[in-house]
Amino acid sequence: MEDLAYSPHALINTAPPMLELSNVYGIEEVHALRYREGKGGRLSSERIRGKEWPTNGSSVCVNNESPNENRCHSTEAGANALLGINLIFLWLFRNHNYLADKLHELNPCWGDDKLYQVARDINIAMYQHIVYHELMPAVIGQKYLEKNKVIFPGHVHVDDYDEDLEPRLAQEYVLATRWFHVLQEGRINLYDKHGKMFNQLSVVDLSLRTGALTINNTIEGATQGAFRQACASTDYVIDPEMGERSLGRLQFVSDVMAADIMKTRDVGLPPYNRYRELCKLPVAEHFHDLYQWMPKEVRLQDN
Ligand code: HEM
Repeated sequence: MEDLAYSPHALINTAPPMLELSNVYGIEEVHALRYREGKGGRLSSERIRGKEWPTNGSSVCVNNESPNENRCHSTEAGANALLGINLIFLWLFRNHNYLADKLHELNPCWGDDKLYQVARDINIAMYQHIVYHELMPAVIGQKYLEKNKVIFPGHVHVDDYDEDLEPRLAQEYVLATRWFHVLQEGRINLYDKHGKMFNQLSVVDLSLRTGALTINNTIEGATQGAFRQACASTDYVIDPEMGERSLGRLQFVSDVMAADIMKTRDVGLPPYNRYRELCKLPVAEHFHDLYQWMPKEVRLQDN
């Protein structure tokens, strides 16, 4: 077991990090071609009440409630999964077609492929700007990002792309990101464009249920909610909906935090003490030694 725990094979996650919008454009060339309309640089779409949606047809939306909820994006299956992923996918899918149409107006002589590639480049750049310059500073802190040369002061042009580096993630990154589950509110508020709340829904019951987004102004309300509703606190407390019903109607009970810890063991990450050692922090000799590094409330409960 000792060998497995420190095996380099287990410590790399080959899933693409989505920074290249593989959720919108596909993770393989053959997928990318399938999602294209073939003219005007656009992604294939259908209109419902004047709004654009990807073509319908996947069977993964098992939580759709018939007869009213009958849509499921026939794109990357993950786009239909969690509400947050679905929203980001839809916004950027629509943004691609918006950009392609604008580029077409400005450059009537450009062909389908040129329009597609330029719209795709701009869409990815917009997404990366949001992630690197807005989301990451809010979560990690501007100074820390600048110190580690992830971003640079003043939005200057940076050309430090290294073709020799493979776009892969350390498992620690993926597993640490699971702790963002504590930030997820169990209930999401839907607002109109003036900020008036008109509905509240259980977020875990919206997984694999794209059909619910197209009715009752759900996509519009949830989009407003994405910037109007505060996220949960960055503590160690998880909303019961998220912690105990994370798979919604698919599975009555779950314990997402315990599963998150178990997964770190399953993939063979070293124990907490080993990371303390690597960071040159004091290590625990006995379980009780850990109390001094735990949040005060947890320490009091367990003592
Ligand atoms: C509706 C909200 C969400 C639900 C229902 C949900 C549910 C889940 C479930 C069931 C898993 C798998 C647990 C297991 O392996 O047993 C998971 C994994 C994960 N979740 Fe969430 N989650 C949500 C939101 C989020 C958010 C907001 C983040 C981060 C910002 C996040 C990050 C992750 C990560 C990084 C993993 C691990 C993926 C991997 O192992 O490759 N989740 N989530």
